[in-house]
Amino acid sequence: MRFVVTAGPTREAIDPVRFISNRSSGKMGYAIAEAVLAKKHHVTLISGPAAIPPPRDAEFISITTADELHRAVHRSLRRCDVFVMCAAVSDYKPAAPSVRKLKKQKSAFALKLVPTRDILASLPKRRRFAVIGFAAETHDLKIHAEKKLRAKNCDAIVANDVSGTETGMESDENEVTIFFRDGEIKKISRTSKKKIARELVKIFEKIFEKGLTKKSW
Ligand code: CTP
Repeated sequence: MRFVVTAGPTREAIDPVRFISNRSSGKMGYAIAEAVLAKKHHVTLISGPAAIPPPRDAEFISITTADELHRAVHRSLRRCDVFVMCAAVSDYKPAAPSVRKLKKQKSAFALKLVPTRDILASLPKRRRFAVIGFAAETHDLKIHAEKKLRAKNCDAIVANDVSGTETGMESDENEVTIFFRDGEIKKISRTSKKKIARELVKIFEKIFEKGLTKKSW
């Protein structure tokens, strides 16, 4: 099986020395890539800036911006069975990044931001691979995750609560709830991201196999 996994944050330049980003460490996506390799599948890991080394046997593609991630994803999907969109993509980017360093001013300063493209929502409706989205939520997790599952046309959404510091972003542990297209819901209680990744890969394999038998891709 061929997996394409995205991980980490994106960075959107304000000027040559400043950017907009988020707290994603890349740990969950890298752990998924490692768990995919442990099951003897092929993995292409597309990652934004992260402080951890990629798994040795992964095909690794480094990106910085949401636009670069969009291009790398669409190129990699030509050969893919399971696509896992774990990256924390910046929803906005500066409308006009400055080529020169912005100088400090005494008055208030407003930065105009424009939305980045939604990568999951840009995937073809008819396709030959399974699509797994993620959802980072601080509140009303079920409502938001189920809405994203439908809006982004995913086969499943892995939702995690990012309101605390002990699980989710930057942490080594996580607790996730998986929402499936057919309405099934499965929870993986708090444990290491590596263990969660192993459970998730088993679930992703099943989703792909189910799709094959139903000939839905
Ligand atoms: N995502 C994407 N392209 C974007 C933003 C997000 O493909 N420009 C993907 C993420 O990788 C994730 C899913 O969409 O798999 C949900 O991301 P999340 O940040 O939870 O939600 P958003 O769609 O950004 O909505 P909101 O920020 O309002 O929660």
